[in-house]
Amino acid sequence: MGKLTATSPIYDRELVDVGKVGYCSRQKRVRFALSYILAIVDKTMTQNVYDRSDFFEGYSKLSRSTEGLDGAAEWPSMRALLPNLHDLNIVDLGCGFGWFCRWAVEQGVASALGIDVSENMLARARNATSNPRIDYVQQDLERLDLPLASFDLAYSSLALHYVANLAGLLFTLRRSLRPGGYLVMSIEHPIYMAPTRADWLFDERGRRTWPVDSYLVEGPRTTDWLVQGVIKQHRTIGTTLNHLIRCGFVVAHVEEWGPTDEQIATHPDWEEARDRPMFLLIAAQR
Ligand SMILES: C[S@@+](CC[C@H](N)C(=O)[O-])C[C@H]1O[C@@H](n2cnc3c(N)ncnc32)[C@H](O)[C@@H]1O
Repeated sequence: MGKLTATSPIYDRELVDVGKVGYCSRQKRVRFALSYILAIVDKTMTQNVYDRSDFFEGYSKLSRSTEGLDGAAEWPSMRALLPNLHDLNIVDLGCGFGWFCRWAVEQGVASALGIDVSENMLARARNATSNPRIDYVQQDLERLDLPLASFDLAYSSLALHYVANLAGLLFTLRRSLRPGGYLVMSIEHPIYMAPTRADWLFDERGRRTWPVDSYLVEGPRTTDWLVQGVIKQHRTIGTTLNHLIRCGFVVAHVEEWGPTDEQIATHPDWEEARDRPMFLLIAAQR
């Protein structure tokens, strides 16, 4: 089990709850302690679905996997949030196949560290990379360990919505950034993530609506994407922004990504994002 982060409000609350147990039998106390430990383990267990062969096979066929950054609809908007990368030390959280690290080196970064929990993803990233300025390391973002004040940019594309302990991660991240350092991140949009049954509904006229329910009920969402039972962590926009603010980040830009007319002309299916945003992009600074 990884160390608990003192800053995580979730764990603060649980520690207070433990205090409410009061006097009870030894057996009860042991049982309570066990269930308490299991609850924490459960909260911090990482599914690592990208290491499932059936999931990985499906993921490898997506356009963002075969075409890289240009195959990702939101990439032009993410790129627009980046500072000048020349000579920066950067870290990519949930680096996947390492497309961003390789692109960043082409832009002149001094070093790029790609972090991912999946051996499958890291093996593919290493195979595709020959530049010695890039390093890939296997780490779980739930219990990330990074050197202090060492990076100028932390980048993360579509990985942080898998992380339950976002507050702890942001705390670690902020300390690993140099003063003035940047955080540029994207997650699945909470409107996309929130529903308990995340799929379009069609009325008799064929008009589609997205069934947002349970928006304020934060926590795990189990969805069927590529395989059954993929677990993501739903948080409201407010919660994500407040985590950033409480960790001491200055939020500079928040974008609920939607396609441009030009993008829709070449990818008509992306238009559905105008009815139901799929990505949330955030830029912040230490
Ligand atoms: C949708 S992919 C995005 C990959 C890449 N950033 C991109 O945009 O192409 C999500 C990545 O996050 C990684 N990931 C998910 N949970 C993680 C965790 N707890 N720790 C480290 N990596 C994680 C996955 O293994 C996967 O490579």
